Amino acid sequence: MLVSPSLLSADFANLERDIKRVEAAGADWLHIDVMDGHFVPNITIGVPVTASIKKVASVPLDVHLMIENPQNYVEAFAKAGADVITFHYEAVSDPAALIEQIRALGVKAGVSIKPKTAPEVLLGLSPDLILIMTVEPGFGGQEFMEDCVQKIPVIKDCAEIIQVDGGINAHTGKICAELGANCLVAGNYVFKSDDLAAAITSLK
Ligand code: DX5
Ligand code: ZN
Repeated sequence: MLVSPSLLSADFANLERDIKRVEAAGADWLHIDVMDGHFVPNITIGVPVTASIKKVASVPLDVHLMIENPQNYVEAFAKAGADVITFHYEAVSDPAALIEQIRALGVKAGVSIKPKTAPEVLLGLSPDLILIMTVEPGFGGQEFMEDCVQKIPVIKDCAEIIQVDGGINAHTGKICAELGANCLVAGNYVFKSDDLAAAITSLK
């Protein structure tokens, strides 16, 4: 199981400290939640902060774009050091073209769907990663929507990496793993824990 702690739950005034802590605790990737105030009702991290994170990070950067017109920004995030770029299916008209555009930048391409989007829309696409959202995107610390996990078996053979994001903890992570997920994003469960290593180990 790959564990990708969401930096949205880190202390933004002490990002380098929190990155080092979570890496020492066993993080495989760092999940960066990019929100634009249009696709989702929140504004978070952009390109300059991602580039600064790259300077201090030693594990791959897993960039989750919750933005409109992601095709206009993937090159900038690739230059900033993203190793994986995941966009939302709902935000584009030609997902196959954007997958190729991301790959041409030398970055792994991911596609995500929101809780109300049917998994069948992804059949026929061949991204490197599929991200199943188990909360409405926009905020950390929300409750896991268990119904969404039934999408995992439907899309499991469409990508090498099946990631789940939203309300993940040891209990909900196990449900995802049993259905075929091999990458878990966790924000509050990791960063609000007294023992980061124990939290990450429990997900692995
Ligand atoms: C939600 C983000 C998630 C979120 C996860 O829109 O995509 O990555 O930060 O936070 P938790 O694990 O606290 O639900
Ligand atoms: Zn995310």
